[in-house]
Amino acid sequence: MEKIAITNKKQTKEDVLRQSLLKERGQIPEHVAIIMDGNGRWAKERGRMRIQGHKAGVDSVRDAIEACAQLGVGHLTLYAFSTENWRRPKAEISALMKLLIQTLRKETLNLNKNDLKLNAIGELERLPSVCLNELREGIEMTKDNQRMVITLALSYSGRWDITNAIKSISEKVKNGELQSEDINDEVIHAHLATSEMPDPDLLIRTGGDFRISNFLLWQSAYTEFFITDTYWPDFRRTNIYEAIEAYQTRERRFGMISEQLYEKEKEKAAASV
Ligand code: FPP
Repeated sequence: MEKIAITNKKQTKEDVLRQSLLKERGQIPEHVAIIMDGNGRWAKERGRMRIQGHKAGVDSVRDAIEACAQLGVGHLTLYAFSTENWRRPKAEISALMKLLIQTLRKETLNLNKNDLKLNAIGELERLPSVCLNELREGIEMTKDNQRMVITLALSYSGRWDITNAIKSISEKVKNGELQSEDINDEVIHAHLATSEMPDPDLLIRTGGDFRISNFLLWQSAYTEFFITDTYWPDFRRTNIYEAIEAYQTRERRFGMISEQLYEKEKEKAAASV
């Protein structure tokens, strides 16, 4: 049985079977990114406060982490708080930050025990210092773990990320460290907050809206999207499996045509014999 116990629940035989079918059927995405949306609506429909939706969403985070790690996903990136979320009512922001602090305190040891590495991207200095300290401790404690990288996008936006990259690149051009004609995709990738990870293969959005909401703008150029009406607090591993099944049916052409992909696959197969 798998050595992972983020949810504290025993993995059922059906779940083991479902995961092995997914692994046999096709490629498991190396990087899954999630826009966790619908917490507020979930709470409202139950006559509860918005923060209750966020709290309920923590169980979905645990289940998503556990299922992705068991499947062999290498990177899981969660959009937990956007730059624009700072515009929310103060009470909601502070309740969200408290929830984040509590969750980090409760879960970091568990992440470490399960060989999971914690990472964070965004304008982290804007976070309350207690939150930032918890985050830094968690990142430090788990820094050598290998199984899967969990990146929390906090106070993050794609435009912030690109703007920062432009600033550091132009600084290097000014200093003569870099020539402007040498700026290309790789150089830009290397200056983004996500420089240590591959671009997302699959982006899941819960809550039914068809938009990117300033998430990984540069990085999602060729990402496959899966949008579900399910609100984040109701999202469970079976929804992850559905998303990956859908992903496995997509033909990722990266601007090429099907025949070229087929030829590439043939060449790869021949080289591996
Ligand atoms: C969007 O739903 C969700 C957020 C802004 C916060 C996400 C936070 C969590 C799931 C909890 C903690 C996370 C971690 C990583 C511990 P919304 O409020 O915009 O929902 P709505 O669109 O229905 O209003």
